[in-house]
Amino acid sequence: MICPMLNFTSVINYRSKMNIKSIKILALGVLTAIFILLNIFKSHSAEFKVNDSIALNANETLKQETFEILEAKCNSCHRKKNPFMVFSIRNMERRAPKIHEQVFITKRMPKGDQMRLTNNEYSILKKWLTQQNIN
Ligand code: HEC
Repeated sequence: MICPMLNFTSVINYRSKMNIKSIKILALGVLTAIFILLNIFKSHSAEFKVNDSIALNANETLKQETFEILEAKCNSCHRKKNPFMVFSIRNMERRAPKIHEQVFITKRMPKGDQMRLTNNEYSILKKWLTQQNIN
């Protein structure tokens, strides 16, 4: 009579120990999974931020380079001959359609033979203009 009872309680004890152990393992597993997922998420969002700021800096650099061309090759003359069309960092985006028209469509600018754009300057200007959503 005693023997099977003992056996029975020891089986229950064994089972509940197993359950607690497996719950612990399960909990540890879930926590590890959450930790890994959080880290993946974190590293990805960091990547996005880095990429965004690189893209932003690249755009700023391109705009700056474009402005330097406008300043050297266009403003130098416009200041004297066409003061209402002097390009600045603040107005160049608004004037992008006009710049595109004059330099690439009608090819009237840069006016005269004195002021030429190099191939590199043309390609910088073109690259910047393609970002300005000109139809
Ligand atoms: C040697 C002088 C000179 C240079 C260099 C020059 N321009 Fe001009 N530009 C003018 C003059 C003068 C006018 C106004 C008369 C006209 O449109 O021909 C003008 C007009 C313009 C206009 C207005 C056109 C319109 O629709 O009324 C734009 C836009 C323009 N220039 C862009 C540029 C750009 C961009 C550059 C440089 C890549 C440039 N110009 C270089 C002399 C110059």
